[in-house]
Amino acid sequence: MNSQFRLNHSSLCTCAGLGVLGMLLWSTVVLGAEPTRQEQAQQRALERVPQIKEVHQESLLRRSQRLQERGVSVKDIRQTYFVLDSPIIKELEDRYAPVRFNHGQHAASAGDCTICHHKRPAADIAYNPNPELVRCSACHQQSFAPEFPNRLGLKAAYHQRCIQCHEDQNKGPQICVDCHLEQVPKHQDLVKLPENPDPLEVTAECLRCHAEQAEDFKLTAHWLWRGHSSYTVENERAVQHGKGTTAINNY
Ligand code: HEC
Ligand code: HEC
Ligand code: HEC
Ligand code: HEC
Ligand code: HEC
Repeated sequence: MNSQFRLNHSSLCTCAGLGVLGMLLWSTVVLGAEPTRQEQAQQRALERVPQIKEVHQESLLRRSQRLQERGVSVKDIRQTYFVLDSPIIKELEDRYAPVRFNHGQHAASAGDCTICHHKRPAADIAYNPNPELVRCSACHQQSFAPEFPNRLGLKAAYHQRCIQCHEDQNKGPQICVDCHLEQVPKHQDLVKLPENPDPLEVTAECLRCHAEQAEDFKLTAHWLWRGHSSYTVENERAVQHGKGTTAINNY
C-alpha cells in the first residue's frame, strides 16, 4: 500500500506539466485500481510482526494518564477497519471466516485506547512509528509459549478482551455466531454435475459431501410427513405426502 501511495505521489510531480487529464490517465494505467477497503484490510490481516520480548512495566492507570498527557487520541488511528484473520491462529485452526472489527467506532466509543492497547514494548521498535500502539499480535502469539508463561495466546487475548466488554456492557456480539461465520467453500468449484442434470442427480451430488446432513434431515418433519395433520389449521388436506413417501426428489 505505502509504496503505491509513494509512487502516486512522485507521479504527481513528474506529470505536472502534462496536465491533469494526462496525469490521471497515466496513473490509472500504471497503478491499476486501488484495492478496496475490504481488500486492504484482508492484506493487513495476513501480515506478521516480530514478537516483542520485553514489555514496559507500568500500571494501567499510569499508562492511561501518560497517553493523555502525550495527546494520543483517535487522530492516531490509521486504520478504522480491520478484519482479524491472523496467520498465527490459522496455523492451528481455521474453522471460521475472518472476524470484522470496526476499530474507529470502537476507539471513539471506548474513549481510552488503553482499554485494548494495554501495554507497550520496553524499547521503541524500528518498524512502528508509534510504539505506544502496537498490534496485539506483537505480544500475543502462540498459547502456552514457555518463553512467555504469563501472556495469553492471540485467540484467547481477543476472546477475553472482546467478549468480556460486550458482556459487561450488554452490547455487541456475545455468542459465537455473531462474530464467526462458517468458512464455507465456494460451491461453484465443488459441485460437479452433467449438463441438464435431473433432480435426483443433483441430490446425489450434494449427498456426496453432505451424507451427515441427509441423515439429520430424515429426522425432520419434512421427511417424516405422512399426510393430514390436525396442526395445519385450514390446510389440513393440502399436503398429502412428505419426502419420505412419494415426493419427486426423494432419495
Ligand atoms: C466478540 C467477537 C467474538 C466472539 C463472540 C467469539 N469469538 Fe472466536 N474469535 C474472535 C476473534 C477476533 C478471533 C481471532 C480471529 C483471527 O485473527 O483469526 C477468534 C478466533 C476464534 C477461533 C480460531 C480461528 C478459526 O477460524 O478457527 C475459534 C475456533 C473461535 N474463535 C471459536 C469461538 C467460539 C466457539 C465462540 C463462542 C463460544 C467464539 N469464538 C466467540 C472473536 C470472537
Ligand atoms: C476495542 C479495542 C480497541 C480500542 C479501544 C482501540 N484499539 Fe487500536 N487496535 C485494536 C485491534 C484489535 C487492532 C489490530 C491488532 C492487530 O492487527 O494485531 C488495533 C490496531 C491499532 C493500530 C495499528 C498498529 C499497527 O502496528 O499496525 C493503531 C495505530 C491503533 N490501533 C491505534 C489506536 C488508538 C489511537 C486508539 C484510541 C484512540 C485505539 N487504537 C483504540 C483494538 C482497539
Ligand atoms: C507490548 C506487549 C503487549 C501488547 C501489544 C498487548 N498485550 Fe495483552 N498482555 C501482555 C502481557 C505481558 C500480558 C500478561 C499480563 C500482565 O503482565 O499484566 C497480557 C495480558 C492480556 C490479557 C489478560 C489479562 C488482562 O490484562 O486482562 C488480555 C485479555 C490481553 N492481554 C489482550 C490484549 C489485546 C486485545 C491486545 C491488543 C489490542 C493486547 N493484549 C496487546 C502484553 C501485551
Ligand atoms: C471497551 C468495550 C469493547 C471492547 C473491548 C470490544 N467491543 Fe465490540 N462493541 C462494543 C460496544 C459497546 C458495541 C456496540 C456498538 C453499538 O451497538 O453501537 C460493540 C459492537 C461490536 C460489533 C457489532 C457492531 C459492528 O461493529 O459490526 C462487533 C462485530 C464487535 N463489537 C467486535 C469486537 C471485537 C472483534 C473486539 C475485540 C478485538 C471487540 N469488539 C472489543 C464494545 C467493545
Ligand atoms: C465436494 C463437497 C461438497 C459438495 C458436492 C457440496 N457441498 Fe455443500 N458444503 C461443503 C463443505 C465442505 C461445507 C462447509 C462445511 C459444512 O458446513 O459442512 C458445505 C456447506 C454447505 C452449506 C452450509 C452453508 C452455510 O452457510 O453454513 C449448505 C447450505 C450447502 N453446503 C449446500 C449444498 C448443496 C445444496 C449441495 C448440492 C447442490 C452441496 N452443498 C454440495 C462441501 C460440499
